[in-house]
Amino acid sequence: MSVVVVVGAQWGDEGKGKVVDLMTERADTVVRYGGGANAGHTLVIDGKKLVTHLVPSGVCHPGKACVLGDGMVIDPHTLLEELGECQARGLLQRNELLIGLGAHIILPYHKLIDGLREDRGAKTGRAIGTTRRGIGPAYEAKAARKGVRMRDLAKPERVRQLVAANLDELVPLILHLGGQAPGQVEVTKWIDDALAAGDKLRPYTGDAGRHVDAAITAGKHVLFEGAQGCLLDLDHGTYPYVTSSSTIAAGACQSAGIGPTKIDAVVGITKAYATRVGEGPFPTEIPGEMGERLRQAGGEFGATTGRPRRCGWLDLPALRMGVRLSGMTSLALTKLDVLGGLGEVCVCVAYQLDGKELDEPPTDPEDIARATPVYAKFPGWDRLPADARDVSDLPASARAYVETIERMAGVPFCLVSVGPDRAETIRLSDPFA
Ligand code: IMP
Repeated sequence: MSVVVVVGAQWGDEGKGKVVDLMTERADTVVRYGGGANAGHTLVIDGKKLVTHLVPSGVCHPGKACVLGDGMVIDPHTLLEELGECQARGLLQRNELLIGLGAHIILPYHKLIDGLREDRGAKTGRAIGTTRRGIGPAYEAKAARKGVRMRDLAKPERVRQLVAANLDELVPLILHLGGQAPGQVEVTKWIDDALAAGDKLRPYTGDAGRHVDAAITAGKHVLFEGAQGCLLDLDHGTYPYVTSSSTIAAGACQSAGIGPTKIDAVVGITKAYATRVGEGPFPTEIPGEMGERLRQAGGEFGATTGRPRRCGWLDLPALRMGVRLSGMTSLALTKLDVLGGLGEVCVCVAYQLDGKELDEPPTDPEDIARATPVYAKFPGWDRLPADARDVSDLPASARAYVETIERMAGVPFCLVSVGPDRAETIRLSDPFA
């Protein structure tokens, strides 16, 4: 096995950063394939924190190629900042980063529109709760075939024409949403800044699809790093409370430009509980003090926006849906340590809706919101031993919890994380093996 896709199995923030970082030990190339700076991975290496938004979490392993696929929407300024931070730590040298020339650029008006829509949505009750990073508007431009791509930044006149054509349509929208039309000086600065960033990033750009395909053909170990989670997928998630890209494993093929027959294994990442940021149905959400305890214990605040995440019990119907959508072959369970000391621990094993028991969420988000979770309850456990390296090292009730999830999700665990550091991990199987 040499090609592995890692995806979030829930609503994002499952702890992909740590898992991808660990799996990168066995990978030659790590490919980020969808979304943009809406993602945020917090990596803890030797006790030091590094937060990445665009660069794959494999960045902490010098010598491994990090690729940003054509399906991404890239804010060139954020990428430059991140690159600077990584290079200051001796990471991501020139031959270790490749940015797909087909990736789309996020421009300031994408962020402006995203923010204006959210402000208006907050008043009308129709907010999505986006990260305001311009993700949706940039993908809209792409679908409308008006987007500015990485490759365009080498052609200033083309960028000027594209921006003018976009703004011709978007200024009325900006005004409609209560914003102000950008002046010519401002627009010129947006373009000049993007072109200047493009100049700095150019040495790192290339044909990402061919590069990745060649690595696979050469028998290299390639790791595809998904962003967000399966339930935020544009086509299959809890629409409209989703992101604007394909977050399931199939997105790796679509966005990186490789065929589905090249994928050998899919690892889903699930937290030992559930979180969600932004709006949308969340049947196992825990209100009040218990939810707050979980939020504090797990540090559940957005790595990108700092927003408090909504916290709830692990939702097996939602997890099963993720397993199915991405064809997961194994699961990584993260943050089991966070549940220590919380008292009784629950897991939702099914939903009740209109007198029926459901093993996966219904397709209509309104029905998901109406569904009642059916819980299995486990006696709580105290702190997990930080040196647990085998499931048998866990307290009996934590072990029962892990075994129940594995059995009811229907796929084996490849690892269980018992703390934020690399070492605090129970490794059960190697997805590359
Ligand atoms: P957008 O991707 O910024 O358009 O946001 C759409 C939805 O996806 C919102 O509910 C966001 O909170 C959510 N979202 C986007 N990126 C992430 C992420 O990396 N983790 C968790 N939720 C995310």
